[in-house]
Amino acid sequence: MTNTAIAIDGPVGVGKSTTARLVAQKLNMAHIDTGAMYRAVALFQIENGLDMHDAASLENSLEQIQISIKNDGGKQKIFLNGADVTEKIRTSEVSEGASVVAVNQGVREKLVAAQREMAAAEGVVMDGRDIGSHVLPDAGIKIYLDAPLEIRARRRLRDLESAGRPAEFDQVLNETIIRDHRDKNRKHSPLIQTPDALCIDTSRFNSPDETADEIVKIFKASR
Ligand code: DC
Repeated sequence: MTNTAIAIDGPVGVGKSTTARLVAQKLNMAHIDTGAMYRAVALFQIENGLDMHDAASLENSLEQIQISIKNDGGKQKIFLNGADVTEKIRTSEVSEGASVVAVNQGVREKLVAAQREMAAAEGVVMDGRDIGSHVLPDAGIKIYLDAPLEIRARRRLRDLESAGRPAEFDQVLNETIIRDHRDKNRKHSPLIQTPDALCIDTSRFNSPDETADEIVKIFKASR
């Protein structure tokens, strides 16, 4: 099934998940937001007072962590050891933690194996940082979403505000720069645009819905 998959990668705040969800709805495929899985690992470390940077602690945690994803009326819900953590993983603290735990090779191996299994079972639109480069290298189409830094930070600020977590623009901008730098420069599966990926600047479009229509058009033309 993976050669019919749609891989969507890109930096922080580019609108990957919203766009991927809309593409999946339009094509009647499943959507998997892989960032949510790294966020769930970070939440486990936070809730248990454990260090995000400590490889031994992460290795130990991985043995105790069960992550599952369910599709609820077109929206992804994520469960950590049976508890619905869909909302809890959207804080700035978890965002930062997810980028830190994602540096760890053991964490990546476990989550990538689960992601490949999900993609093998059904047609998926999967978004993340390493989907086209590593998780699904034979995906039907690979899209790299990008947008100028300030626009992405503003988008992130809006998302936080609408989730009832207002923040300062400068702080969000700073967090975006740090997270992008870590995601692009880590040793294992850093965020890259692969040569076979099509780059779309989302700031060219008025809404994620328009970006999603463009991706659907590209996918249909590729069939
Ligand atoms: O897409 P997101 O902001 O929810 O992702 C949170 C962090 O998880 C991101 O900063 C890096 C990491 N991540 C990753 O390394 N690989 C993925 N496929 C998805 C996310």
